Amino acid sequence: MIKMMKELFTIVGFVALLFSSSATAQGIDRGALLATMCVTCHGPGGQGSKRIPSIDNHSDHELAEYMHGFKEGTERATIMDRHASSYSDEEINLLAKYFYEAKQ
Ligand code: HEC
Repeated sequence: MIKMMKELFTIVGFVALLFSSSATAQGIDRGALLATMCVTCHGPGGQGSKRIPSIDNHSDHELAEYMHGFKEGTERATIMDRHASSYSDEEINLLAKYFYEAKQ
């Protein structure tokens, strides 16, 4: 009986590990997926172009702050207010993390 319990705990632990690692991978993929929208204007690494500011020089905090500013209308924008308004707080965090890690 004790042996069976031990085996059961091992299986439960393994399944938990599987779920937690796939959740992390999913987080990274979602960030990259969301970022495909941004890179059409901001460039592949977020480096910007003549008329579009670069977003590869911000910390993850700053990028999230800008996005919230655009969303709430406190940051001046011609287009980003419309973009930012469609992202949830969680998605903004994923985007900020993605661009921050992309420049490392
Ligand atoms: C249609 C083109 C376009 C797309 C798509 C776009 N942006 Fe922008 N972004 C701009 C422009 C233009 C500005 C300058 C502010 C304005 O005029 O709205 C800007 C400004 C910014 C800024 C402020 C940079 C600074 O230093 O002033 C951040 C941060 C930013 N964008 C992040 C993003 C993220 C994250 C995405 C994807 C969710 C995104 N942008 C998608 C065009 C775009």
